[in-house]
Amino acid sequence: NVIPLLAAVVGYLIGSLSFAVIVSRAMGLSDPRSYGSGNPGATNVLRSGNKAAAILTLVFDALKGYLPVMAVLQWGAPHGLGEGTAALVGLGAFLGHLWPVFFKFEGGKGVATAAGVIFGLNPLLGVATLATWLIIAWFSRYSSLAAIVSAAFAPMYQLLIWEAGPTAVALIIMGLLLVWRHAANIKKLLAGTESKLGQKAAGAT
Ligand code: G3P
Repeated sequence: NVIPLLAAVVGYLIGSLSFAVIVSRAMGLSDPRSYGSGNPGATNVLRSGNKAAAILTLVFDALKGYLPVMAVLQWGAPHGLGEGTAALVGLGAFLGHLWPVFFKFEGGKGVATAAGVIFGLNPLLGVATLATWLIIAWFSRYSSLAAIVSAAFAPMYQLLIWEAGPTAVALIIMGLLLVWRHAANIKKLLAGTESKLGQKAAGAT
């Protein structure tokens, strides 16, 4: 059955829509790859000082993970598609965000997209993971630290409170890739040079 794989490819193509770049372009702002951390993500778009652009980036990058997963869960059952395909599609969207085919394979770190995928696969886990992110972000003011801690906790919540299965496998793969993509952030956190949430970057308009 090739449908799950085809669905994953569709997820990948949707995930490849790098909304940090798309939203910034549409709003006439600098390309987020040219300032701050250089990352095409909501956190870095916020460094432009334009909150609306950052929120739109966050929402669209999350939706591109959430909607494909929901589509499989809503309409897949008659075709024999269930949690496994949903997890595969979500993983596809996440991989698209990291390595977007439309943007020279230079993508982001996957935080918003992973959040969308998690909310689609297991809404209560989404709430628990978002709460984890908010608590760490609130106290530390570091978006990256909040993401890294949440990525580690999400698979643990899933395995301890819910069950092992395709969702847990997707969470572990996304978590490992997400932490790996934050290597530069981890170095900066350890050196004490990571920028805090809301700090503006030089050179962004
Ligand atoms: O959204 C990714 C975030 O965790 C870190 O982004 O721009 O600070 O590297 P940034």
